[in-house]
Amino acid sequence: MSVLKVAILGFGTVGEGVYTTIQSHAEELTAVLGKKVEVAAVLIKNKQKERNIRSEVLITSDYEEILQLPQLDLVVEAIVGKEPTFTFLQKAIKRGCHIITANKEMFANHGKELLKLADEYKVAVGFEATVGGGIPIIQTLRQLLKINRVQQVQGIVNGTSNFILTEMREKQQSFAAALKLAQENGYAEADPTNDVEGFDAFYKLMILSRIAFGEEPNWNDVEIEGITSITSELIEIAEKLGLRFKHIASASKIGSQVKGSVSPVLVSKSHPFYHVEGVENAINVHSDIVGRITLQGPGAGMFPTASAVIEDLVYVCQSRSSEANNSQTSQAASGQKKKRPNE
Ligand code: HSE
Repeated sequence: MSVLKVAILGFGTVGEGVYTTIQSHAEELTAVLGKKVEVAAVLIKNKQKERNIRSEVLITSDYEEILQLPQLDLVVEAIVGKEPTFTFLQKAIKRGCHIITANKEMFANHGKELLKLADEYKVAVGFEATVGGGIPIIQTLRQLLKINRVQQVQGIVNGTSNFILTEMREKQQSFAAALKLAQENGYAEADPTNDVEGFDAFYKLMILSRIAFGEEPNWNDVEIEGITSITSELIEIAEKLGLRFKHIASASKIGSQVKGSVSPVLVSKSHPFYHVEGVENAINVHSDIVGRITLQGPGAGMFPTASAVIEDLVYVCQSRSSEANNSQTSQAASGQKKKRPNE
């Protein structure tokens, strides 16, 4: 039986979840792909740390060593920051590898370049795990956009922020204690600044906007506010008034322009996000034919994110690369089908 050779970059919460799921769901993967998925290498930072990785897997801190592996088919990237990741992924694409990324910051900044390059080299890029944890929002948008025109996407897209707000309200935890718990549960980034200051939600919104509308708001025009100004006292007052704070990222097509915002918002009981609690994410998509749909599910954590990566693995292996890469932009938004480079 042929083998699909995979390298996993990073062995934090997401990388380990992907590694474990490839073993635990080997039978299903083989049945769907007609190939055995084999983790050939794992990129780690600290070689001394003990990890539960099979002995035949190359464990290295050297990107180049991974690139030199014979017959590498696919790279799963689960690290943080733009560089050196972006440079490495470009090299991997040029070597003919499919790419799957969970890195929001890198993909919001360099997604367009990666997709273009991938098209040139006839490989695919999967990025479902960059937004909404385990919620299949990217695939849903792809399906919806075949005919519908999206007018607005709006979501709770940072699990850590929602978790902290919920802990503060339900259990009267302090902000610091709730954040610590989010870190212990593997929801928050290693440096949680991006989570609590709204930047993580901003990157996710830009990725969503690109797929929903085929374009993004001007980054400088998007006001970004996190949850650090939301005190226990404010949460208590809101609760007495029947309101809850939710951290919401929103992008709308207004005329020919896309506008975006990222901020805490007070919502009432009738709002679909009022009951979205803990690490849950929820995303509303408003489009012209179907109206509003809401997708809700675990927004962070080891296995929800691994689920998105594994679904992507199947997607990139099964779709023609040009289909996978081009379907990230909205065809409905422009009112006409875009010509694919391979057509
Ligand atoms: N730190 C992120 C969050 C992880 O809390 O939403 C998932 O992207």
